[in-house]
Amino acid sequence: MGTDIEKWMVLKFGGTSVSSRENWERIAEVVAVRRREGARVCVVHSALAGVSNRLQELIDGDTEKGRGAAVDAIREQHLELARDLELDGETLLGGHLGELERLVRGIELVGEAGYRVQARLMGLGELMATALGAAWLDRRLDGAALVDARDLLESVPQRNVGERAEVLSAVCDIAPDPQVRRRLSEAGPVVLTQGFIARDPGGQTVLLGRGGSDASAAYLAAKIGAERLEIWTDVPGMFSANPHQVPSARLLRRLSYAEAQEIATNGARVLHPRCIRPAREHAIPIHVRCTQRPELEGTVISGSSADEEAMVKALAVRSDVVLVSMESLGMWQQVGFLSDTFAVFKKHGLSIDLVSTSESNVTVSLDPGLNAHFRQVEEAFVGELQEHCRVKIIGGVSAVSLLGRNIRTILHQLGPAFEVFQEQHVYLLSQAANDLNFTFVVDSSQAGRLVRQLHEQVITQSGNRHSFGPTWTELMGDGQPEDPVKTAWWNRRREELLRLGGERSPRYVYDRQTLRGSALQMLEMSSVDRIFYAMKANAHPGVLRELEGMGLGLECVSIGEVACVLELFPDIDPGRVLFTPNFAPRGEYVRGFGLGVRVTLDNIYPLRQWPELFEGREVFLRIDPGYGHGHHRHVKTGGTHSKFGIPRFEIPEVARRAEELGLKVRGLHAHTGSGIKDPLAWKNTALALHEVAQELGGVDILDLGGGFGVRENETQSAVDLERVDEALDAFRRAWPGYEIWVEPGRYLVAEAGVLLTRVTQLKGKGNVRYLGVDTGMNSFIRPALYGARHTIVNLSRLEEPSDSVVNVVGPICESGDKLGIDRHMPESQEGDVILIAHAGAYGRVMSSSYNLRPPASEEMI
Ligand code: LLP
Repeated sequence: MGTDIEKWMVLKFGGTSVSSRENWERIAEVVAVRRREGARVCVVHSALAGVSNRLQELIDGDTEKGRGAAVDAIREQHLELARDLELDGETLLGGHLGELERLVRGIELVGEAGYRVQARLMGLGELMATALGAAWLDRRLDGAALVDARDLLESVPQRNVGERAEVLSAVCDIAPDPQVRRRLSEAGPVVLTQGFIARDPGGQTVLLGRGGSDASAAYLAAKIGAERLEIWTDVPGMFSANPHQVPSARLLRRLSYAEAQEIATNGARVLHPRCIRPAREHAIPIHVRCTQRPELEGTVISGSSADEEAMVKALAVRSDVVLVSMESLGMWQQVGFLSDTFAVFKKHGLSIDLVSTSESNVTVSLDPGLNAHFRQVEEAFVGELQEHCRVKIIGGVSAVSLLGRNIRTILHQLGPAFEVFQEQHVYLLSQAANDLNFTFVVDSSQAGRLVRQLHEQVITQSGNRHSFGPTWTELMGDGQPEDPVKTAWWNRRREELLRLGGERSPRYVYDRQTLRGSALQMLEMSSVDRIFYAMKANAHPGVLRELEGMGLGLECVSIGEVACVLELFPDIDPGRVLFTPNFAPRGEYVRGFGLGVRVTLDNIYPLRQWPELFEGREVFLRIDPGYGHGHHRHVKTGGTHSKFGIPRFEIPEVARRAEELGLKVRGLHAHTGSGIKDPLAWKNTALALHEVAQELGGVDILDLGGGFGVRENETQSAVDLERVDEALDAFRRAWPGYEIWVEPGRYLVAEAGVLLTRVTQLKGKGNVRYLGVDTGMNSFIRPALYGARHTIVNLSRLEEPSDSVVNVVGPICESGDKLGIDRHMPESQEGDVILIAHAGAYGRVMSSSYNLRPPASEEMI
């Protein structure tokens, strides 16, 4: 094979990957596969796990039991791996171990380690590990050569950085280097070398700084023009958030270099940001893979990402950020304010990360990596800065970033996501000039919750299956993720549904078993005394009969709903019916009391204007806890901007009037919104109501409303009822004596319902393809109204591959008449039955005859 047609791949393995025989077997297998693919392989690897830290402790004199014991521990770790690999460790490592002892003795004698000594000592970690790795691979693969990295990589001088950086954070150039390529080719088809170390122009050992092994691999890939750079680590790729914070974080299948750089720089530890530029400049794709799970595809980083369109790909948090707020009354139109103040930062070596300015205030954040340094210079720095402005140092804050591409163009779509900031103090907001990053600085105590919420709203709900792979939990759980489409009730009953859809379309179909299943789950909550079904979610008589039969009460919001209940169940105890009107006319209160149902008052107006109606009565009060939750701003029902509930400041007047009228406040009610996934939300409502109850006295029922979130598509999950139950149990233990009621709508009926509709026509407009069906927003308005993304399948062709991307649209004369956008579906034909899942809640009840097209009919099976 001539040098010019050789394909090289550079594979970098991290510390954990090279620390056990099991992993070395996997490495050998990966190398063998690359060889079979016709590539030559250069393996770059780090020191064994933990060794670099131990070596650093030797330098710092920070060892627990003295330097001698630390050296013994390092020796033993390597000899043990050698024994596992059936190698003669003493012979292979003898020279390096001798050097280790000599260097450590020198440090003890001198009392400190100069930079050169530090570099030599740290480099031993890589040298020892590769001595073992190369010997093992050589035997295992019948040939593997060890090449010293200092013969391949030479550092280049950096300007004005000082000796420390030249020796301990060296950099190399990334121009193609035929000599390096030749050196590797001569060594053989499988070569192994150290990460992290290089030589300087004088031939001495230098280190490549933090993340050095990733950088080594990238430099080598650039110099030899590798086909591919593979970074093997102990996680299966890059994720849409830190999986330890957000277990539903999704694998990022494909990223552009720019996106990967942004994600790596903002805190994802998987890949060091330094390794991206060399790969990018030579268009070498980077594959991030997991040594323990080589069968997984991981993340591919290259010139193009999976999606060209604007989108948020990941969320990152950097904690312990320090903000410097500079306030100057005279700043407006003042020349040189920034230059004067920034000069003070420069003088104290403080690097600025984010900046935001207003007329009288400039707030900046400091590079989080440099915090330790900041504390040392803080006093002097603040003193000098105060000569120019009023200074406030704000700590305990974190930067939460949305990372993606062209974020500026999709701000409007992010509207609902930003609502999570409504209750937060945002200290600083910054949009990166490269349009890849949108950052908020908030209290650190809030950062985790915000990231989880934002992730749910902008990543999970996007349902995008191109960019996003499986979730962390799915990948790391036991075995394969269960396929939600295969296990859905409508897949089990597919033949029946195809027959129904074929007979008449469009139609809603509800599955009795599933409905009962959801109700049983709710009934199992031990902390809840009574459940009232919020019938606004689905008023089909079959549904009402089933739930009433299971012992649930009914929650009504209009006199029409009350009348419907009393007609269906003429003998029902009116105490099982709640009536919770909002801005209803006077007459509805008269009727409600007349029928004996439980009336909830959600405004003080009726008490002031129609006091006679309330004399001697018993009511519930709907309280506005001051905040709302929910899947969309239309369904958040708390806070000043929501029309619901009595604000807390009116409670004293309500109490006074109630007393005057002999009105008994039996219970308090709050419903903060709909589609809530935070399991603590109901406990928080209970706490808020408890406070009001103490103010009022005599209240013995707390009705915590509905709002229990469900999944609308296969990428989402429902609220965890067990956790809701645990939280409420804790509340009950703390405050016994209340009856706890809830009034779920959606949770009971969503899963049980599907909408069947048939394909009418197909259309292609350039890249955009439309799949027309026989009903649209007139039957199901949730996608148009809330941007809801429901699972849509072609029930007639479930087995066929979903290889076309379509917009599913109805026949209504509005461009908003879309049931699904960018859906992967099989090639469909006129007459196919299309199924929209999780559509049992707020489906038929919100339909209309718009365009005089009758909405879907409904039935229970
Ligand atoms: N209680 C009260 C006072 C309510 O206003 C509601 C819903 C519920 C209970 C039941 O909430 P659920 O458990 O279903 O979330 N059309 C929107 C939902 C509007 C909810 C209105 N109130 C949607 O399709 O998402």
